[in-house]
Amino acid sequence: MNTLRIGMAGCGTVGGGVWRHLAPHAELLRQRTGKDIAITKVAVRTPAKAQAVGVPADRITTDWRSLASDPDIDVVVELMGGTKEARELIAASLKAGKHVVTANKALLAECGAELFEAARRAQRQLLFEASVAGGIPIIKSLREGLIANRILSVHGIINGTCNYILTRMTGQGLEYAEALAEAKAGGYAEADESLDVDGHDAAHKAAILASLAYGFWVEPDQLYVEGIRNVERRDIDFARKLGYELKLLAIIKMDERQAVEVRVHPTLIPRTHVLASVSGVFNAISVHGDVVGETLFYGRGAGADATASAVLGDIAEIAAHPEYRKCKAPETACLNAKVKTMDEVVSRYYLRLDIVDRPGVLAKVAAVLGAHAIGISSVIQPEVHANTSVPLILMLHDAQEKQFQAARREIEALDVVKGPAVVLRVEDFA
Ligand SMILES: NC(=O)c1ccc[n+]([C@@H]2O[C@H](COP(=O)([O-])OP(=O)(O)OC[C@H]3O[C@@H](n4cnc5c(N)ncnc54)[C@H](OP(=O)(O)O)[C@@H]3O)[C@@H](O)[C@H]2O)c1
Repeated sequence: MNTLRIGMAGCGTVGGGVWRHLAPHAELLRQRTGKDIAITKVAVRTPAKAQAVGVPADRITTDWRSLASDPDIDVVVELMGGTKEARELIAASLKAGKHVVTANKALLAECGAELFEAARRAQRQLLFEASVAGGIPIIKSLREGLIANRILSVHGIINGTCNYILTRMTGQGLEYAEALAEAKAGGYAEADESLDVDGHDAAHKAAILASLAYGFWVEPDQLYVEGIRNVERRDIDFARKLGYELKLLAIIKMDERQAVEVRVHPTLIPRTHVLASVSGVFNAISVHGDVVGETLFYGRGAGADATASAVLGDIAEIAAHPEYRKCKAPETACLNAKVKTMDEVVSRYYLRLDIVDRPGVLAKVAAVLGAHAIGISSVIQPEVHANTSVPLILMLHDAQEKQFQAARREIEALDVVKGPAVVLRVEDFA
């Protein structure tokens, strides 16, 4: 039989895209893989929606479990989302000897270790290109193209919703709430935006990238996650005066002692760095390998077309190479790596204080920083008239997070400082 038979669970944004793009590319894929690829069964909750995408009624089922048990299916493509049913479907499919393709970053971040172990036991492929950065082939690049490299760092703008909001705040001078409302109206943000703007979607993807870079799964509580909900436009403006752009950045690094850090937070990036110019819903990932140096991957991180490209790429990979392939991250467990706590992370900082407008305040703040051995690299204090408090912005040299937070608490307690400080971390890509 020269046909690869696909059972697809879910026919929404991603599944609908896969269905629509397969037919016009079937001949191309046959020429390139040597196989015909056919979606023979589609599991959904609401058949009418799948029919509206063009799926014939006789290929639709509402029983997703039947995909795993169907002997006429070679590959199960999980595009339902969620973690409960999806986990059960993937585990059952692998056990039944089927290859699996998924776009489910939340599930992999939560149960990646368990599911890849199940794939290893079953000697079946579990591919997941669409789970990070949509159409950008970052997974395959890390697993294959960069396999000879020790990965020194990965920096990613991997949430299009956040990047869109921050781009509009920067370019159009919108406040966060205005930019969010615009993103929702334009279809760039979900009705419930929290998974995106609170950083969790980017954190799921960061966990997957870390597993590929370093060969082990970080536990969800080992990841530091901070979203963009509290970002104020004036901090974007002040940072720009200092030569920086603000991005929600996933940072994954290993130091010379094999300590790994995985964090997602709003981050100031020097305007001269290529990631600073990635705007709108686009994603970009910079990977620094010890052999290759710095590489950059750029493209659409979400949407039906970009994700369909990634899912069809995984299906084609199975069509061309159906054998289980080991010796590839994330199946290769790493070294003796340890995950750093946030307290151990070293960063530069942007600190904005609201201070009483009187002489000697800067000296008091500098004294606290000096006592914690934290150096100041630049200061701006815009002139404000007819006001009793003024902003004071400090750019700080490298400090350990624990040390910095202790200094911050002392500064906030000074009688000349009004209210909590605003803190943004700075990445210099050194
Ligand atoms: N959207 C993107 O741009 C994007 C990008 C990268 C990764 N992903 C990931 O891809 C996956 C799918 O996302 P999506 O945006 O395509 O979601 P979606 O538009 O909500 O589609 C989900 C599909 O799964 C079906 N479904 C859900 N639960 C089901 C169940 N218990 N039984 C049968 N069918 C079920 C839904 O059927 P009904 O419509 O009939 O309810 C629908 O067809 C998620 O894991 C997501 O994180 C999405």
